[in-house]
Amino acid sequence: MSLCGISSRRNAEKIIEDGRVMVDGIKITFPGTKIDETNSKILLDNKRTKFEKKIYIMLNKPVGYISTVRDEKNRPTIMNLTSEIKTRIYPIGRLDCTTEGLILMTNDGEITNKLTHPRYSIEKTYIAEVSGNLNPIALTKLRKGIVINNYKTKSAKINIIGNSKYGIKLEITLREGKKHQIKDMFEMVNCKLNKLKRISESEIFLGNLPIGKWRKLNDSEISKLKATKRKNDD
Ligand code: URA
Repeated sequence: MSLCGISSRRNAEKIIEDGRVMVDGIKITFPGTKIDETNSKILLDNKRTKFEKKIYIMLNKPVGYISTVRDEKNRPTIMNLTSEIKTRIYPIGRLDCTTEGLILMTNDGEITNKLTHPRYSIEKTYIAEVSGNLNPIALTKLRKGIVINNYKTKSAKINIIGNSKYGIKLEITLREGKKHQIKDMFEMVNCKLNKLKRISESEIFLGNLPIGKWRKLNDSEISKLKATKRKNDD
């Protein structure tokens, strides 16, 4: 059932144990039952269900695109950039409209729940271009965690990697991703975030995928996602 995209694995087990699933005319009640998903006729509550193959992609989101399936203000969304994919997919988490870079998309609810659950503290790395006086005291504060609207950010890895037309270029790794978090972090130390690009998530790297383009994850990337373990929290 979870393969059919109908339910989470836990729910699916309950549905099967409750005897609501028939495979080729036989009621199955054991969740581990092996089925030939391409050729079997699967009925849930007497209704035909189709096997839905799992798909995992990465997209290099341009600035100006919303990372939701729909937008009530009709702004361009990441779905406009992936419209060739006929399977119903959705983003794993969010990327601010003003941020470009890596966003993962799938139809695998289990992986989505895992990677977006705060308990897993998935590492995401960004390149930020910042102007202002980013002195060592400010950097230490940002690394240790800084209070924004009564919330203390988790410790972050921050390295200066060069200069940019705006001032300084930094690599930042967070284990969380609140809306506008990086912009707000720099504002708290009187600096301005001018450009932000996400380059990796859970050890999946954007690489040289052109902006606005998507590609399927390869087997080793999918295995990495599935094997993702929770990181230690502060
Ligand atoms: N993700 C974003 O898009 N922006 C942030 O500031 C943090 C996470």
